[in-house]
Amino acid sequence: MSVTQLRENGANLPVRPVTAQSLLDLKRAGRAITALTAYDFPTARLVDQAGIDLILVGDSVGMTVLGYESTLPVTMDEMLHHTRAVARGVKRAFLVADMPFGSYHASSDEALRNATRFIKESGAHAIKIEGGQRRADLVRRMTDAEISVVAHIGLTPQSIHRMSGYHVQGRSIEAIESLYADAAALQDAGAVAIVLEGIPREVAAEVTTRCAIPTIGIGAGPECDGQILVFHDLFNLTFSSPAKFVRRYADAATFFGGALERYRCDVTSRTFPADAESYHLSREVAVQLEALEEQPGVCARADDFVQSEIQDSDKGPFAEFAKLVPAGRG
Ligand code: KIV
Repeated sequence: MSVTQLRENGANLPVRPVTAQSLLDLKRAGRAITALTAYDFPTARLVDQAGIDLILVGDSVGMTVLGYESTLPVTMDEMLHHTRAVARGVKRAFLVADMPFGSYHASSDEALRNATRFIKESGAHAIKIEGGQRRADLVRRMTDAEISVVAHIGLTPQSIHRMSGYHVQGRSIEAIESLYADAAALQDAGAVAIVLEGIPREVAAEVTTRCAIPTIGIGAGPECDGQILVFHDLFNLTFSSPAKFVRRYADAATFFGGALERYRCDVTSRTFPADAESYHLSREVAVQLEALEEQPGVCARADDFVQSEIQDSDKGPFAEFAKLVPAGRG
């Protein structure tokens, strides 16, 4: 049991939720959009309370939280599960759920059904899908079905095998032209924002100038309308050295590691729990118990009971216990 406060004390302060329109307003006002991933209730709550505008339940959950080698194995059920937990912690941010690999590739009917589940069943405000021009029809179909879509181009981790690894995209003139065409097609199809991942700063800057909708960069330089990072990268919780574009703001691995070591020591040295961390009987019951224990025969009866259980203990529930008790001891 742990006492986690689910609702804030007296916090009926009005919060103005971030919407697709407010993200657009931020772009138009030249104000940077802040975005971060989150995968569970407590981190979602912290990210939301920090005033981050957009929270993405990324399929990066597969690597950061579930321990997969890539994002490819992540399932719809896993994404829905994490999105629901995040949604419970979000009051203000625009909540985007990543559609996992395979959930929008087979047919647009299936993609639409899966996207609808995120909005209907998990509390997401929008979904994100990876891919450029070839996703434009799907973005249009989802938009027509009232589902807001965040697009994602450049280094798209679900294309790891087609890209032969995680490589910066858009380095050749041909690739740059293709990225410009991707962004234009997705915007025309109704995307509310575009994530630009792993592309040269100059290319991201040009896409951002050309686009009327906000661009949100990760490894795409400072001229994007907003920036997004993976929560675990920000806090050194990835057990690896960070990519070039990551800035670490805290060292949670050292912080948690130190606390865990102290906890282990306190338990092994029996300094945890202290008396103040223990529950106590009321004085009245304590006195009654003491009197009971002093009555002759109480302990003897307990000894008889344990002894008889040990004698019948070849197969019963006390079998393991009996092996540990030296002969003649109850
Ligand atoms: O899954 C994810 O975390 C993402 C971000 C890196 C944009 O797609």
